[in-house]
Formats: sequence, structure tokens, C-alpha cells
Amino acid sequence: MLRRSILNFLLATPLGRFLAGVISTIAAFTVIYLDNSVDVPRLKKDTAVRLPHPRLRGRVSVEEALANRRSVREYVDEPLTLEEVSQLLWAAYGISEVTHGLRTAPSAGAQYPLEVYIAVREGGVKTIDGFLPAGVYYYDPHSHTLHVVRRGDVSSELYHAALEQQWVLEAPVSIVFTAVYSRTVRVYGERGRVRYVPMDLGHAAQNVYLQATALGLGTVAVGAFYDEDVRKILELPERETPIYIMPVGRPAVRYELTERELAQYIEKKRSKLSN
Ligand SMILES: Cc1cc2nc3c(=O)[nH]c(=O)nc-3n(C[C@H](O)[C@H](O)[C@H](O)COP(=O)(O)O)c2cc1C
Repeated sequence: MLRRSILNFLLATPLGRFLAGVISTIAAFTVIYLDNSVDVPRLKKDTAVRLPHPRLRGRVSVEEALANRRSVREYVDEPLTLEEVSQLLWAAYGISEVTHGLRTAPSAGAQYPLEVYIAVREGGVKTIDGFLPAGVYYYDPHSHTLHVVRRGDVSSELYHAALEQQWVLEAPVSIVFTAVYSRTVRVYGERGRVRYVPMDLGHAAQNVYLQATALGLGTVAVGAFYDEDVRKILELPERETPIYIMPVGRPAVRYELTERELAQYIEKKRSKLSN
């Protein structure tokens, strides 16, 4: 009852709304700062792979990326470039606000429960002077760097862990999202676990889909895999749960929807509407 009247006061009056804004902003940023000080994995300066800086201009509109996005499961046998990997990771969970380190994807209470890894196949990523060594890398959004977790091509292990889905074996790179549920649960309880973390993941994964499409690449969100196997392959700490694998490659077949096709589809459906 008391809680409801406080809530009513906060939402119903201008002063209340102002106070609510101040309280939630302080709460969110307090947790961001706490996070930055206690929750950052081991990052080593000397072995870090410095990704090219993200580009903020592209040649494909958001409308075109939305229309031409499909789940792509067949790729040609070609590497990605380090620039493409940089762009995909930035889109996934990179920094888009430099005062507090807010990200390209929204997150409940700015708790950022996700972590991002890539599994690079042998010859999967081209650099200026060769190829990025095959292995599993952790992505640090703040310094926009990759950190080696383990060396060696794990695509075959990942493929078996993902119920032998061929696209996981054949993609030059797989992005893997993990979740540290406790970051969101400590603020929102069970609602954080069952609703907010999966919603956060959906936002970040859609960014990957759209950025891949805009770069002429293809990806698919893979949710079917054995958690424990993926956890072992990525050498994840206990608190992290793998939640998506997104293989990325150059599509064998490019999908494209024209405005005309879309308009025809809509008109056909409209003609069938009842009076
Ligand atoms: C939560 C979720 C889990 C998925 N898991 C898989 C998967 O394990 N393997 C796969 O090939 N596709 C998976 N997909 C992709 C869907 O099959 C695909 O999005 C759907 O068929 C619609 O096609 P579209 O993405 O091209 O629009 C998943 C999609 C979502 C949202």
C-alpha cells in the first residue's frame, strides 16, 4: 500500500517524476561504476588485438538492412577481414556513448549482462599481414580489443556442441554471446533472469544481424546447443552461461527484397481482408 502511494506520487506529479528520474539515474550509474571496478575479466595489454576503429557510416540504409536480413546458413569459403570483425563486434555490444560507456544495444538498468566472444577458424580472419591465429577471443568493448582465451581452431568442437549444425562448422567466425545473469538479477530479481537478460540478448543479436547484412555478410542466431559443452570449449568462468552462437560468413546466396515485391504482398493481403 505504502509502496503503491510512493509510486503514485513519483509518477503523478512533476516533482515526483523529476525525483524518480534522478533516483534511477544515480542507481544505474552507481552500478555501472561498481561493475567497471569489480566485474572486468583479465585483460592483458601486451597480447591484445587492437581492432580497427569502428566506422559510423555505411552504404546500406537501415530500411535496406531490415528488408534484406535473413538467417544465412550457407557461406562461401572465404575469410572475413579484421575490419568486418571489428564492425560486427562494435554493432553487437560496442560503445556508443563515451561518458558512461553505454552500448549500441539497450540494456535493462544499463547492467550489460552480456559478454561477447569470437571463435576464429584457421584462416578465418584476414589481417594486413596474414591471418588472425585461430582460437577463441574475448571482446572488450571499452578498448575495442580482442583477448586470447585459447589458441586453435574450435569450429569442429563447437559444431558438435551445437547439435552438428553445419553452419557452425563452416563459418569463418562464430560470435558467441554469454550472460552473467547475476548483474541483472541483483537489480530486478527473477524478472531480470527470465525477461530482461533474454531481451538484452535479442537487441544485441539483432544488431549483429543488421550489421552483417549491411556489410554483405550473413549470420544466423543459433540457440540450440549443449550449454556445458560450449562452456568448456570457451573456457568460460562459472558465472557465465552461453546463450547464442552466431556463425558469420559471406553468403553463398544473397537475399534481397524489392519495394515492389513487398507492396504486391501487402496489396494481396489487403484484398483478402473481410468487410
Ligand atoms: C531464439 C532463437 C533460436 C534460434 N535457434 C536456431 C538454431 O539453433 N539453428 C538455426 O539454424 N536457426 C536458429 N534460429 C533462427 C530461426 O530459425 C530463424 O530466425 C527463423 O527461421 C526465421 O528466419 P529469418 O531469421 O531468416 O527471418 C533461431 C532463432 C531464434 C530467435
